[in-house]
Amino acid sequence: VAAGRRYADRFGGQLVLVTGAASGIGRATAFAFAEAGARVVAVDRDAEGAARTAAMARLVGAPDSWGEAVDVSDEQAVEKLADKVSAEYGTVDVLVNNAGIGLSGAFLDTTSDDWRKVLDVNLWGVIHGCRIFGRRMAERGQGGHIVNTASAAAFQPSRMLPAYSTSKAAVLMLSECLRAELAGRGIGVTAVCPGIVNTNITSTARFAGVSADEEKRRQKKTARLYGLRNYPPEKVADAILRAVVRNEAVVPVTPEAHGARLLS
Ligand code: NAI
Repeated sequence: VAAGRRYADRFGGQLVLVTGAASGIGRATAFAFAEAGARVVAVDRDAEGAARTAAMARLVGAPDSWGEAVDVSDEQAVEKLADKVSAEYGTVDVLVNNAGIGLSGAFLDTTSDDWRKVLDVNLWGVIHGCRIFGRRMAERGQGGHIVNTASAAAFQPSRMLPAYSTSKAAVLMLSECLRAELAGRGIGVTAVCPGIVNTNITSTARFAGVSADEEKRRQKKTARLYGLRNYPPEKVADAILRAVVRNEAVVPVTPEAHGARLLS
């Protein structure tokens, strides 16, 4: 994880909060900010994983990092987290709303409960983070940055990811609206849109009308069909730090994935 060192001047001493930090893209992002000398709050509903990420962040150069077990879909829990962070550590400089879950299944096979579960985390989790931490950043009046993890799926229709893709398209639009709203206050907002990244997300995804094995086979086929590469999460982390430094609006991490018209 060399990404962070490049940006040490920019993030040294800053307070960075990453959700979904127990695994995959969130963990790599927490490490990259830690390498850049930031103080990292690693948030995840997986308490053990969040603590592990924080312990590793302390090892790679951010001694003042810690983990918090929070379900981002629970507004009161996020509010409580923000109160604790403000009281003990100060205002967050960079917020990365990255926690997310997958759901594979054709629309006609999905239930309302499937949709609620995905939207609760992927959309409401982002809304809670943006509003609760965004208000505090605005009140402090010293700027800041919010990164929301959307997806290439936000742009591309897919037969098997209607709920997931809808949640990510909403995150993309929310990010762009918020960017316009907060620009005058010196707070940047970025939507990062990775293609296919090698993480646990398919192993923790929900499946409607398909088995996990079928879904894995489908993804492999899709990747082969479109020549998509399976990127390491560090590449997304690198793009996130760069996007904050450059104040980029929408960041496609894996451009070839964005060229495909319809993911099967
Ligand atoms: P991952 O499954 O490795 O990590 C997701 C993390 O979010 C897990 O640690 C999980 O415990 C946590 N999480 C889930 N629900 C939560 C909740 N309610 N509250 C707090 N934490 C929660 O998956 P990955 O791939 O690292 O996903 C990170 C983000 O990247 C997600 O938003 C995902 O949709 C997005 N993404 C992933 C892509 C991929 O190909 N892996 C492609 C495009 C976007």
